[in-house]
Amino acid sequence: MNHPFDVAEAAASYASKSAQDILKLAFEHFGDDLWVSFSGAEDVVLVDMAWKLNKNVKVFSLDTGRLHPETYRFIDQVRNHYGIQIEILSPDAETLQAMVKEKGLFSFYQDGHSQCCGIRKTAPLRKKLSQVRAWATGQRRDQSPGTRSQVAAVEIDGAFGTEEKPLYKFNPLAQMTSEEIWAYIRMLELPYNALHERGFISIGCEPCTRPVLPNQHEREGRWWWEEATQKECGLHAGNLIAKN
Ligand code: ADX
Ligand code: SF4
Repeated sequence: MNHPFDVAEAAASYASKSAQDILKLAFEHFGDDLWVSFSGAEDVVLVDMAWKLNKNVKVFSLDTGRLHPETYRFIDQVRNHYGIQIEILSPDAETLQAMVKEKGLFSFYQDGHSQCCGIRKTAPLRKKLSQVRAWATGQRRDQSPGTRSQVAAVEIDGAFGTEEKPLYKFNPLAQMTSEEIWAYIRMLELPYNALHERGFISIGCEPCTRPVLPNQHEREGRWWWEEATQKECGLHAGNLIAKN
């Protein structure tokens, strides 16, 4: 398999480049084949930057069925704001029904989030990424000292790609801080998720996200009943693999 470019070399040379430069690199190599994953939170910055570089940018969101009403509204607001389609990916109905029938709607509080995230997020993402050559995420190093401190500008996604069909994963916001993200949102008057006005920083599914107290780390509002080092849902499983 011919690689379009040397990922290790690009990761090193783009480590301190701007998010826009990293996106430019992604579009240069993959053009309209690059897919941006948008969670309906402050990663609107990624959508904004990508759209400004390529009006045909492709965006998807994983609809777990458990997002906050505010997040659904916001995803649609972003769709209208930029005049783009956002592909909404849903979990497989039969698998989901079987899990809920067996364990109810809140089993993650008892036995951890991996099964529910597996069905509602990871499996639909896997299906999508099997048809994709490159994707971009809004992951940042400062989001989770436990799991994201090594996030690279670009990497080979070993969790969803294969050796025969490598998948390129760009993390253009990797180096940006929460402060910089919010300065960008405010300065350019981007729309944002209304939950941010109520103490939420990191936003995931409604039952697994809560606002944080002053000076608590944003990740403490996610899956708060679990260990900090396990706070990945499978979307970015590479972060856990890399640590072990
Ligand atoms: S998570 O893995 O813990 O849920 P987080 O909320 O920090 O992820 O978001 C990091 C990046 O993962 C987002 O910027 C986005 O690229 C991707 N992501 C997370 N949740 C979703 C989602 N529901 N749909 C699409 N992308 C998502
Ligand atoms: Fe299920 Fe919670 Fe994971 Fe959402 S974050 S998919 S509700 S375990």
